[in-house]
Formats: sequence, structure tokens, C-alpha cells
Amino acid sequence: MSADDTSGVIEYPTEEISLSINGEEVSAEVEPRHKLSDFLRDARGLRGVRVGCEHGVCGACTVLMDGRAVKSCLTYAVQADGTEIETVEGLADDGALHPIQESFHEEHALQCGFCTSGFVMATKELLDENPDPDDDDIETGLADNVCRCTGYQNIYDAVHRAADRLETGETDADETHAGEDDA
Ligand code: FES
Ligand code: FES
Repeated sequence: MSADDTSGVIEYPTEEISLSINGEEVSAEVEPRHKLSDFLRDARGLRGVRVGCEHGVCGACTVLMDGRAVKSCLTYAVQADGTEIETVEGLADDGALHPIQESFHEEHALQCGFCTSGFVMATKELLDENPDPDDDDIETGLADNVCRCTGYQNIYDAVHRAADRLETGETDADETHAGEDDA
């Protein structure tokens, strides 16, 4: 607010960013102070991006930026300019869960579910880089994510199961059709 401005309204500068979000090209005006997590949740309605600690500890806000897991609460929206962002909302294919999502479901790798989208996206980065991780690889790959409910063993089992499903190409849709055949 300038000295001779008595309106009481403070106008902050904005910058235009253009990025891909779950395959959709998006342009927006954002203030440089805006976090990517808030931009995705509030401006784009992607509420699967969870905000827990807001200081980089819990991993609930994890999204992929150009294929790498980032904590969107520690990333400014302007830093996402020109990048490809993937959130949990982009994983399902025409209603069929992604093999990682399906594996978390089958292995009961969640209870309250608050941490789950962050774990799923961190798992996607892990399996994209290492399709057959052992427990040590999983511990390292998911070390930035915290779950307060599950005790982690089911999450490990889900990651192994997802790796198997991705290797064999088994999908949720395959299971649906298999069930139809049995009926
Ligand atoms: S909300 Fe981002 S790490 Fe916890
Ligand atoms: S399932 Fe509740 S925090 Fe992980």
C-alpha cells in the first residue's frame, strides 16, 4: 500500500505460471509467496494433496514434479512454472485404480488415509526408478513420509504387491473383468 493510498487494500504482485497438472495444461497468476500445496488444493481443487505439518516433515503433501517427489508445502507455486506435476488424482485411469492405489487397498496399507496420497506418490517415484525394490530400498524411498496409523508393515507389503502388479501388467480393470467371468 503506497503512502497516499487510503483504501486499506494491499495489492501483492503476481506472476504468471504455465504448467502441466495431471496432463492438463494450466496457466495461472500466483503470488510469489504462494505454496504449491495451496495452489493445487485451493486454486485447482486437488484435495488429495494433503497438508499436515507444512514444514517438510510428514510428506503428506508429496507430489511428483517432472517425475521426482517433492514436498509441495516447501515448494512455491512459481517454482513449478514449466514443469509437469502429478498428483494422486491423476493416477486412476478411466475409473480404474492405479496398481499402486489398488495394492494399498488390498494390503490394508491405510487406516485414516491422511498420509496415503503422499505415500502413493512417493511409491510411484520409487517404482519408476526401481521396479523391484527390497525392504531396504523401500525404507529409503519412503523415508520422507510419516504414517501415524499403520505401523508401516502393510505399506511395505503394498509396495511389493504394486511392484508385482506393475511387472505383470495386472490392473484393477483386469480384476473387474475376471470377477465378471466368474459370475
Ligand atoms: S505438509 Fe508438507 S511435509 Fe508435511
Ligand atoms: S493412515 Fe493415518 S496417518 Fe497414515
